[in-house]
Amino acid sequence: MTRVLIVGGGGREHAIGWKLRHSDALSDLFFAPGNGGTSTIGTNLPVRAADVPSIVRSANDLRVELVFVGPEEPLALGLADELERVGIRCFGPSRAAARIEASKHFAKDLMDRAGVPTARWETFTEAADAKRYVLEQPMPVVVKADGLAAGKGVAVCQTVEDATAFIDQAMALDAFGEAGSRIVIEECLVGTEVSAFALCDGTKAAMTVPACDYKPIGDGNTGPNTGGMGSYSPSEFVSSADLRAVHDDVFVPVLAQMRADGNPFRGILYAGLMVHSEGTKVLEFNCRMGDPEAQVVLPRLRGDLLASAISIAEGSIPSTDFEWDERPRVGIVIASEGYPGRYETGVPIAGLDEIDSDTLVFHAGTTVDARGQLVTAGGRVLTVVGTGTTMMEAREAAYRNAERVRFKGAQYRRDIALRAVTDAAVRQA
Ligand code: AMP
Ligand code: GLY
Repeated sequence: MTRVLIVGGGGREHAIGWKLRHSDALSDLFFAPGNGGTSTIGTNLPVRAADVPSIVRSANDLRVELVFVGPEEPLALGLADELERVGIRCFGPSRAAARIEASKHFAKDLMDRAGVPTARWETFTEAADAKRYVLEQPMPVVVKADGLAAGKGVAVCQTVEDATAFIDQAMALDAFGEAGSRIVIEECLVGTEVSAFALCDGTKAAMTVPACDYKPIGDGNTGPNTGGMGSYSPSEFVSSADLRAVHDDVFVPVLAQMRADGNPFRGILYAGLMVHSEGTKVLEFNCRMGDPEAQVVLPRLRGDLLASAISIAEGSIPSTDFEWDERPRVGIVIASEGYPGRYETGVPIAGLDEIDSDTLVFHAGTTVDARGQLVTAGGRVLTVVGTGTTMMEAREAAYRNAERVRFKGAQYRRDIALRAVTDAAVRQA
């Protein structure tokens, strides 16, 4: 029996906890800090996800046997290394391996050396050199701050003026660059984006089913970017042959290169892919699962996530073939009014007792107030995940139930998975 601490407090961490609860090997479950939903399946600790010393201390005090890390920040700060030092198993990469997400330059250089297809790129530490380079490039170009910037570090620039302005902004944003301020400038790729995930033991990659997410706040991908406003799985334009190719041509060579460099990757590796008829290229890597992708991928997993996480934390994953529920899932993120800008918190949430029994609700920005009332506590509040025998049914279930969740100012996109339903209808015609 295993005592587990999940680090994080979003919908992804609620979904991870929900999945671990299905494992016979789980005894006690803790969250740091968790949310209003995780408090119903485990014990929330008043510890921030990025507070590495407090997490290590809590894990020690509570005799936790496995720490499962949801977000990137604690990994980039070296949580896995600190846990290893005190002899606690961690499912999540070392600080050195987490650079695959924490430094764009690190990831691009790694991809080139591993022979993984990606957009043409250059790195700059001087704004003047970057601006001169942009003048010679066809538009649009993509400008990226090297370090973690909470989703604000990337801009697709249509004009030289936009690129010049963002270069100055990105240089100021870069808090984690090893060589001071650093930016990456890339050619702009076209195609359809998909998120591919693999549980990795340093050598082998056990791929999950893929998922698509929706970053902008508004329907039709309008308005500012968010952490993700919805997701669906499977991705209708990715075949199983495509996935095998991603395993062989992306995950395996990257793991081999990281091992050769002395930074083996153990944990969940996330490849953001741009799929195009002329070939698939990697946009970015993340050192964790996606949110809200986890909310639609994990409910489809038939295997024991806890057993896999323990084997990886101990050294090696026994099998790279998971079984999957064929039924599609659609996840609708319900957000606070004003998100991704300023928003109110403490708004009472109603309607969760009216949700269909086969629909899942994963909490993110929620908490239980002093009077025992569930209230909002963040920008992204809940993900409602619908299931069906077809994508159309899953989508209808997700929206039917999302409508039942009521709080003042609740907002969500109306077009999640619409493309998958329309494309499928076109293919059948
Ligand atoms: P990243 O953090 O590198 O994934 O970038 C965030 C988002 O910016 C991606 O999900 C894409 O939508 C977009 N993006 C990043 N790089 C490129 C590129 N080379 N071409 C087109 N779009 C990109
Ligand atoms: N949904 C995108 C991410 O988790 O980075």
